[in-house]
Amino acid sequence: MTEVNKKKRFDLLKSAGLDPNKIPQHIAIIMDGNGRWAQNRGEDRVFGHLNGVESVRAVVESALQVGVRYLTLYAFSTENWSRPKEEVAALMNLLVTTLNQETDDLNGKGVRLRTIGDLSALPDNCQKQLETTEKAETKNVSLDLILALNYSAKWEITEAVKGIIRDGVKEEEINIDKFETYLQTKGLPDPELMIRTSGERRISNFMLWQLAYAEFHFTSVLWPDFRREHFLAAIHDFQNRERRFGGVSQQTVK
Ligand code: FPP
Repeated sequence: MTEVNKKKRFDLLKSAGLDPNKIPQHIAIIMDGNGRWAQNRGEDRVFGHLNGVESVRAVVESALQVGVRYLTLYAFSTENWSRPKEEVAALMNLLVTTLNQETDDLNGKGVRLRTIGDLSALPDNCQKQLETTEKAETKNVSLDLILALNYSAKWEITEAVKGIIRDGVKEEEINIDKFETYLQTKGLPDPELMIRTSGERRISNFMLWQLAYAEFHFTSVLWPDFRREHFLAAIHDFQNRERRFGGVSQQTVK
């Protein structure tokens, strides 16, 4: 980070009342409320997804500015296939066109794309575009942007079990660390903060293993309205939580 960027980051964090030493390393987001946002305006649901892309840009930019190292976005769940086929097709096209447009810019900013989920069921052009963007060389990686696509946590855990059996791993060799090497998130730190927009308070089959000790921030803001101020507010909320990891409050430790 250049001196100018360091200063900008410091000023931004200060104005938002954030502690620079307690920025979550990994934030996961359930982007929700696109359909309602569009319907509130008398528009088709797809209009909400289109506008949701602006929010994706805003959070990627904000994550870079505040120094978040990993950002996971729940873009398409295994359950989302049950939506009308026009909506599914529009979402896939949106993904392809957005990635196609943004690849160079993302690389220039030090954003590396990764995915979790079963990509094999996605349309061919979608798989190809993801491969192109993932392969594009990113110098000086500042942020890993992880898209959860055709992902669900129950699927991921089931696949992990299958992989362990396939590899003939012995019972005594299985422990938490070993198990995690079979998850889609292998090598990634667990998210410390999970944000869900639109007022819903569920985790909807998202990172059930990895969110074991995450702090949850629920906001009524619909995803297409979500901007930097909301992202910073979520981090502020996180910084005011006491994380005990099953231990006792520091205030009660003598
Ligand atoms: C949930 O809102 C949103 C989704 C299932 C799709 C999220 C996709 C995007 C924001 C656009 C593409 C993303 C990238 C990374 C380019 P909903 O449709 O469930 O809203 P509702 O609950 O109001 O119906």
